[in-house]
Amino acid sequence: MSLNDFIKQLDDLVESAAHSFENAIREVDKQILEETRVEYLGAKSGKLKEVQKNLGKVPKDDKPVAGKRFNEVKTRLEELFQSATEAIMGGGGKGKSEKLDVTLPGVRPRLGHIHPITQTIDELKDIMGRLGFSAVEGPEIEDDWHNFEALNIPLEHPARDPLDNFYLNVAASGTGGGNQLMRSQTSTVQIRVMENHKPPIRIVSLGRVYRPDEIDATHYAMFHQIEGLLVDTNVTMADLKYVLRLFASSYLGGDVEIRFRPSFFPFTEPSVEVDMRWQDTWLEFGGAGMVDPNVLKAVGYDPEEVTGFAFGLGVERLCMRRHGIHDIRYLYDSNTKFLAQF
Ligand code: DAH
Repeated sequence: MSLNDFIKQLDDLVESAAHSFENAIREVDKQILEETRVEYLGAKSGKLKEVQKNLGKVPKDDKPVAGKRFNEVKTRLEELFQSATEAIMGGGGKGKSEKLDVTLPGVRPRLGHIHPITQTIDELKDIMGRLGFSAVEGPEIEDDWHNFEALNIPLEHPARDPLDNFYLNVAASGTGGGNQLMRSQTSTVQIRVMENHKPPIRIVSLGRVYRPDEIDATHYAMFHQIEGLLVDTNVTMADLKYVLRLFASSYLGGDVEIRFRPSFFPFTEPSVEVDMRWQDTWLEFGGAGMVDPNVLKAVGYDPEEVTGFAFGLGVERLCMRRHGIHDIRYLYDSNTKFLAQF
């Protein structure tokens, strides 16, 4: 085949391809576009491929010119396809074969769902809000001062054991100084609030706490607590019991009995374990007590002037008790079939 014949074939190819792609654009049709692409650029038997076979038949001396010309045409065809694709698909146009059929039934979008623990937190905040307690937040990364020291937990106390806490390998910053850790209790927020506000105080704080516990049906390395703090003149344990009873009855429903068992927490004196009886079963939900005078002093309050009560309860426990969930891991293994029930 002569060079001229070969070039003529290439020119014809460009002309007819341009014509076909224009047609696809005119019809705004994805189907035609794809057929045209296969017809000209198809890897197996496209027209360009057919012409390429003749390249071998061109006299040896003419091959460099023929090859160069072939490559130009190839690029040109690809450009034609590219701009036809943009014309048909771009600009929001969907093409003829994909027009919106308004008579088809709709596809219901899958809506997200609020996690049962988040629902519980919202509800508990709401209940405590009605009793006059404002919800406040504290940081999850804490320092020794707020997690231990100001809460009357001295350096030698076993609660500060590195094996029982997630200490962070970073230099301390912020107000407290000392080591930093993932907070092991929300009692930290009591200190943060009292450091910045004068009594009377009436707050709750709900959030995550972290402990390197072995994970099982009732333990998880991260869980949530609701912390309550009331400081005022003449606060008594009767006030504490009354608030907890109203709180528990509002959340669980019906009358809930509260039982205090003597206990010890460094930041309360006296301290109690809080049990609740609901639907004839007693269950322990956390700790409480009267704020220890040492804690009041640590934040600059005068224990002769004010007294207070504090409590810290497990949010998962409350949520699991109400919904009859028997394994805390169900809440955190992201099984949406399980979670969507609540
Ligand atoms: N912070 C305690 C814990 O995590 C719970 C607790 C006990 C909180 C007594 C309190 C309290 O506010 O008064 O085990």
